[in-house]
Amino acid sequence: MLILDGVTVEVAGKEILHDINLEVKPGETHVLFGPNGTGKTTLLMTIMGFAGYTVTKGRMSYKGEDITTMPLHERAKMGMGMSFQRPPTIRGLKTRNLVALCSKMGKDPEELARRLSFEKFLDRDVNDNLSGGEIKKSELLQLMAQDPDMVLLDEPESGVDLENIALVGEVIAELLDKAIKHFNEPMIEHKKKRKKSGIIITHTGFIMRYVNADVGHVILNGRLSCANNPEEIFSCVGKFGYEECVRCMV
Ligand SMILES: Nc1ncnc2c1ncn2[C@@H]1O[C@H](COP(=O)(O)OP(=O)(O)O)[C@@H](O)[C@H]1O
Ligand SMILES: [Mg+2]
Repeated sequence: MLILDGVTVEVAGKEILHDINLEVKPGETHVLFGPNGTGKTTLLMTIMGFAGYTVTKGRMSYKGEDITTMPLHERAKMGMGMSFQRPPTIRGLKTRNLVALCSKMGKDPEELARRLSFEKFLDRDVNDNLSGGEIKKSELLQLMAQDPDMVLLDEPESGVDLENIALVGEVIAELLDKAIKHFNEPMIEHKKKRKKSGIIITHTGFIMRYVNADVGHVILNGRLSCANNPEEIFSCVGKFGYEECVRCMV
């Protein structure tokens, strides 16, 4: 689905990511861990194609097409979608109108918002005076409308209160086709049916209770240091810290 081959990225004339190799297969969800300022957001912004994130070495492909220099809107048309860590406020644009614009199948914004208990915010300008948790819901609402095949989530649970976290987790699981499998369906069959892929940045690991993630990585100093069981990485980082965790270099 998505392949990064030796990708090196510069932001504002400074090399932030070095030689990133990553493959996300159809149906897989990857989780990214790493300390603050290590390049996690930069990696998602680069995959999505934001201006200012310059790939100086390596290449990226998505659905078999080279996207290294493809503009952001074309990547979005190919089914890539992203929720931001800190999205901007857009004055003069109502959330309802943005959701309607994003909607692939002409879905009703009201109906989508109901799933997130977000109806009362539809007539506000996008992200205007919203709390941290409400902003995360607004981001998810836009993604629900867009229904992307490749879902990029930058800290989707930060700022979300304990009562809402289950709701946010369930919606993310739906976006990723990870909704609970039928009780007698073998896991391998369930996985085969899944088409959507995702990359999720998380500090708290809460989201892993709702999304059965397949692969975990640690980014340290702009380098992607491993590919391993996400639960194991999370517990290793919790016990020993990031620096110790990447020593195993699997
Ligand atoms: N637009 C920018 N201009 C200058 N430096 C930037 C810019 N964006 C990110 N950086 C720097 O790149 C590094 C990685 O940032 P980021 O990817 O946001 O980290 P993370 O998401 O892991 O916390 C940080 O040192 C940050 O200050
Ligand atoms: Mg970040």
